Amino acid sequence: MKPLGLKQISYYASAFANEADLMSFENYTRDWLDRVEAKLEAVLPLADDLPERLHEAMRYSVLGGGKRVRPMLVYATGMSLDVPLIQLDGPAAAIELMHAFSLVHDDLPSMDDDDLRRGNLTTHKAFDEATAILAADALQPLAIHVLATDKAMDCDSRTRLKLIELLVNACGSQGMTGGQSLDLGAEGKQLSTDELEHMYRLKTGRLLHASVISAVLCADLNNPKFQALENYIDHLGLAFQIRDDILDIEGETEMIGKQQGADIERSKATWPALFGMDAARKRASELLNKALAEIEILGPSGEPLRQVAHYIVDRKL
Ligand code: IPE
Ligand code: IPE
Ligand code: MG
Ligand code: MG
Ligand code: MG
Repeated sequence: MKPLGLKQISYYASAFANEADLMSFENYTRDWLDRVEAKLEAVLPLADDLPERLHEAMRYSVLGGGKRVRPMLVYATGMSLDVPLIQLDGPAAAIELMHAFSLVHDDLPSMDDDDLRRGNLTTHKAFDEATAILAADALQPLAIHVLATDKAMDCDSRTRLKLIELLVNACGSQGMTGGQSLDLGAEGKQLSTDELEHMYRLKTGRLLHASVISAVLCADLNNPKFQALENYIDHLGLAFQIRDDILDIEGETEMIGKQQGADIERSKATWPALFGMDAARKRASELLNKALAEIEILGPSGEPLRQVAHYIVDRKL
């Protein structure tokens, strides 16, 4: 077996205390990560193609690390539903491209104003603000291009259109972008848990939902399983953002690859900031249990999704 890269091993080792759990998770993820990296590398424009600076910034924003959680969810769901992995490389890469765009914009001075991302300078710091905006702009149509044209996806045009519809809706004003708008408007405000979780569902949950449902669209799925998977990722999407917020407070900059304490500095509305660290932890663990209960219906084939769920809630970065 090909060894995982050092950075990847530290991602997973950090989430699992128990070596047996780490090994089984490593078995699942090794292949997924190789697949999505190769696909991203293949679809991104070459750095020496004109306009070079823009292409360099696009590659910098996408290929510079990242846990690849959204691709992991695409593959884990696909594996649980017996979808051949080659069908999933396009959707996994397309969602990761959209996610990368969202991170570049999220870090801009007019948004969260962050200098560090994935242990490196944010794109606008490594290049300049205009280049970062344009690189993120160009990542969006590239994601759609992948879904529209990827030849390895052996699906009919109706399924392709559904995949595109799912992804664009997840990113639009009723999805990630809408959530980001709510997030900026919530700075310094006291939200209710429902208001806060509505914002989380949009800014973070919708792309995670698209990851699971993309794989579902590639499978021939009956209704009870579909509903269970939607509920699974709804709970897990919230838990993912709560964990991110907890790590912003108690993670180390070195480990999380982002400036620790950035949320407090900007008076961000987060679960731990508004309701306390204990309540945030309790909510994340309650959501994990709910997510796991939902996918019991999948039986042993749901194991990859169970592993990803634990990883999302226990991760240290
Ligand atoms: C960070 O996402 C942004 C949030 C939605 C919280 P990730 O934690 O998945 O970031 P990378 O891709 O691993 O860097
Ligand atoms: C970002 O949430 C959600 C996105 C849509 C990018 P955060 O602002 O908390 O993400 P980080 O902590 O900067 O990665
Ligand atoms: Mg933000
Ligand atoms: Mg941010
Ligand atoms: Mg954060």
